Amino acid sequence: MRKQNAMTAEEFRLLRDLVYEYCGIFFQTESQYLMERRLGNRLREHDLHTFGDYYRYLRYSSERSKELEEIVELLTTNETYFFREDYQLKAFSEEILPELIRRRTKQRRLRFWSAGCSTGEEAYTIGMLIREDPKLTDWDVEIFANDISRKVIQTARRGVYGRSSFRVIDKYFMEKYFRPQGNNYAISDEVRSLVSFGQLNLLDDEMLELIGQVDAILCRNVLIYFDKQARLRVVKTFYNKLVEEGYLLLGHSESLMNVSTDFELVHLKNDMVYRKPAVPGAGKQAV
Ligand SMILES: C[S@@+](CC[C@H](N)C(=O)[O-])C[C@H]1O[C@@H](n2cnc3c(N)ncnc32)[C@H](O)[C@@H]1O
Repeated sequence: MRKQNAMTAEEFRLLRDLVYEYCGIFFQTESQYLMERRLGNRLREHDLHTFGDYYRYLRYSSERSKELEEIVELLTTNETYFFREDYQLKAFSEEILPELIRRRTKQRRLRFWSAGCSTGEEAYTIGMLIREDPKLTDWDVEIFANDISRKVIQTARRGVYGRSSFRVIDKYFMEKYFRPQGNNYAISDEVRSLVSFGQLNLLDDEMLELIGQVDAILCRNVLIYFDKQARLRVVKTFYNKLVEEGYLLLGHSESLMNVSTDFELVHLKNDMVYRKPAVPGAGKQAV
């Protein structure tokens, strides 16, 4: 095996731009070492000597798509757990869901989208909250849940979780919606049946065609990894996918400030959330 060269600033720039172009994740200059460390194994795997060789492999090899998928597995942060962001979930079950139910009484149909769902805890949390609402018992409800990483989607579909996923869950939900499986816990079928998982890149317009109109989107702790351009593009997609007055729930450290004025910021009792205005252009107060 040949010795591997350190990553040069130019190689970092080329790889960073390529990763960004593919999935919107933007690495700051300070992250050069991180990228070098995470991608080092890929060079060894292909017996390549420099990161420049690896860049050319990623650009021009017939195995390009497969390798880009490998890169995503190494460069994404998939941290997640059940009932993350308590206030927002309270707002969801006590304020947003009842409003959506009132709005849809006639159709008895609701659609949700967990965009950047990682291993599925977010989508299943929403599923549990939906199962808790007796009004929705015989409604047609579906949660689409997507992530760019194939591996996390496989885990999400399996629906079996270890201790770290349960760091804040109430005993009530644990006992009602999970059954022990070895040292882990499996999500119940009544919640699993609400969720459809799929691998999807939020920057891939063709794949996004698969998502129809939805009543609410959760995209929490995903946009933080994107730069402004990629955020703008994804938020535009969300706007187009939401029904009028549909809700957009971001992570607590995320906002649409300097990204979009298309949404209105709604002050609910439990939290502040974004909503697509009934009249386009009415969202100018977004902060
Ligand atoms: C930190 S996790 C957030 C998980 C969950 N939303 C939460 O808040 O607990 C971020 C996820 O975004 C996904 N992601 C990053 N870029 C993406 C893209 N372009 N398209 C779809 N998912 C992406 C990552 O693979 C990762 O699983």
